[in-house]
Amino acid sequence: MMQTEFEKKYYVERRGSSCAKWDGLEGKFGDSDLIAMWVADMDFRCPDSVIEAMKKAVENGAFGYYNVPDSYYDAFIRWEKEHHGYEVKREWLRYTPGVVAGIYALVNAYSQPGDACIILSPCYYPFMGAIQDNGRRLCCSQLVEKEGRYTIDFENFEKTIADNQVKVFILCSPHNPVGRVWTREELVRLMEICRRHHVFVICDEIHQDIVMPGYQKVTLATLGDYDDMMATLTAPSKTFNLAGGQNSFAILPDPTVREKFEAVCRTMRIFDGGSFGYIAAEAAYTGGEEWLKGALETIWRNFTYLRDTLAARLPKAVVTPLEGTYLSWVDLSAYTDAAHLKELVQDKARLAVDFGCWFFDEESGKDDCHIRINLATSGDYVEQAVENLIAACGC
Ligand SMILES: Cc1ncc(COP(=O)(O)O)c(C=O)c1O
Repeated sequence: MMQTEFEKKYYVERRGSSCAKWDGLEGKFGDSDLIAMWVADMDFRCPDSVIEAMKKAVENGAFGYYNVPDSYYDAFIRWEKEHHGYEVKREWLRYTPGVVAGIYALVNAYSQPGDACIILSPCYYPFMGAIQDNGRRLCCSQLVEKEGRYTIDFENFEKTIADNQVKVFILCSPHNPVGRVWTREELVRLMEICRRHHVFVICDEIHQDIVMPGYQKVTLATLGDYDDMMATLTAPSKTFNLAGGQNSFAILPDPTVREKFEAVCRTMRIFDGGSFGYIAAEAAYTGGEEWLKGALETIWRNFTYLRDTLAARLPKAVVTPLEGTYLSWVDLSAYTDAAHLKELVQDKARLAVDFGCWFFDEESGKDDCHIRINLATSGDYVEQAVENLIAACGC
């Protein structure tokens, strides 16, 4: 496949850098010779602004305690305003060492052991971890799939909340793994149901900047007067490939929500992170805009190639429309059953992907035949992966 200009400049061979995605293949899949399309990070170098800022820090050479500068907050606040129409105030922001850690803290802040918490399923699996690891009860409202596209069953969502006296809803917006960018109407309906039943909403917007042409991500917090019943978590990690920096934001406009969040963080004294995470995040939000455009073009090119090639040559594979995220959700149930999915995808097609069953509770996921393919890589890998899949399915 022809390389995009972005790919020519930023694609990087990561094997040997101790990256989870490639160097962790043996540990996770028992096979190091696979095309790595699992962990959600990118095979692209970060924006030049990030590398320059990191170099400057490295050249100074002293890596002691960090005094977080105002410019770090200003950069994020500017980004939120310009890209998401969200006017964030400095005092609303709290540090979290990863979005998932923030979810864990908020589950603790807004529910008690034994309480029920709800997700829309299938869902990024650490959401289930946040509920179950904390001794809360997992409630899943299944999304409804039609020709690959997923929507919310609002009646089921509300009934599940009411029947279980749910205390917390963890929302993924845009949604991993089904690639939905929720509409304003959908988000308002969810929030109104949660308001009726006094459910606290943890909104994970880590994929907020990875939105495909024609879609508009709506920031939940800008919808209306919901501050006292919600928290937003986001980060530069997906947007700019900075997950190693572990530098994420909790946006908490309501003072009571801030107090409750801080009370949990205080028990572990988690208030700030490493200097490199701050430096990288600030530089990305300040100088990463053009880079992001190139990354999005490359992801969209990879997706349309995968979608169109599978439609032509593996026509019974159902490729979910990609509205947001760089993760493609593909149903292979026409070509295999769940018992043989790994053999087909990993052993024959030589792909390391996230398997669909990981995103469900055990019972709902046992017959699932989806795979989640990470498209934030070179076109050549995407092409190879598609060819391998077609051959493995015998087409
Ligand atoms: C929806 C979602 N939330 C959170 C994360 C991970 O966030 P962090 O590494 O900041 O904990 C991911 C990574 O794939 C994700 O897809």
